[in-house]
Amino acid sequence: MSNIVSPSILSCDFLNIEKEISWFEKEKDLWIHLDVMDGHFVPNLTFGIPIIKQISKKTTLPLDAHLMVNNPEFHMEEMKEFGLENVTFHLETVNDCLSLISKYKPFYKKIGVSIKPKTPLSQLSDEILRSIDLILVMSVEPGFGGQSFIEDSISRIKDLAQKRKSLDANFQIQVDGGISDSNSKIVREAGADNLVAGSYIFKNHPSQYLEKVKSIR
Ligand code: DX5
Ligand code: ZN
Repeated sequence: MSNIVSPSILSCDFLNIEKEISWFEKEKDLWIHLDVMDGHFVPNLTFGIPIIKQISKKTTLPLDAHLMVNNPEFHMEEMKEFGLENVTFHLETVNDCLSLISKYKPFYKKIGVSIKPKTPLSQLSDEILRSIDLILVMSVEPGFGGQSFIEDSISRIKDLAQKRKSLDANFQIQVDGGISDSNSKIVREAGADNLVAGSYIFKNHPSQYLEKVKSIR
């Protein structure tokens, strides 16, 4: 099992993204989480392809794109040469999840699928779970940083960890939304191996960012 922390730059100083990312440059097992929102799948709007392209040229840290967009194939096509560590799209946005995964498998190190808090886990077929590298369990409704962790997510993480075992699959379980030092332990114990945290890390002075990362490992 991995022990990855993925700071979400959704809560960073957008006018200084390069500097904000640079604080993590030497940290191992750390991905930079990039929340792409289109104002349709979620009400909010963030950044997209040109910004991610520029970020990919400025850092050696693994980049993790979380696509909260209605048409993820467009982004996956446009970003396929960026060298991303992982790209995650939402199960709720696609009709044929498996063919999207197989189409883009050659271009990405990892491909993930995300599910919103109210989407039944039963919508993730065994075939999907066998073909992905990561499942992103949303522990808040996607769209905004700074929301409270939905407690029901713990049982969903446990169910997925159980499923991973029974299928002998090796997808990472990433959890995103409301993560802090008050819940990271229970989330990891439930089976998560990759925690996204936005406001918990970035609401502090940059000199404390790494300390905050360590506190949720
Ligand atoms: C929400 C995003 C999250 C967000 C998490 O839709 O997917 O990545 O940045 O923010 P916090 O950690 O503040 O809940
Ligand atoms: Zn996210």
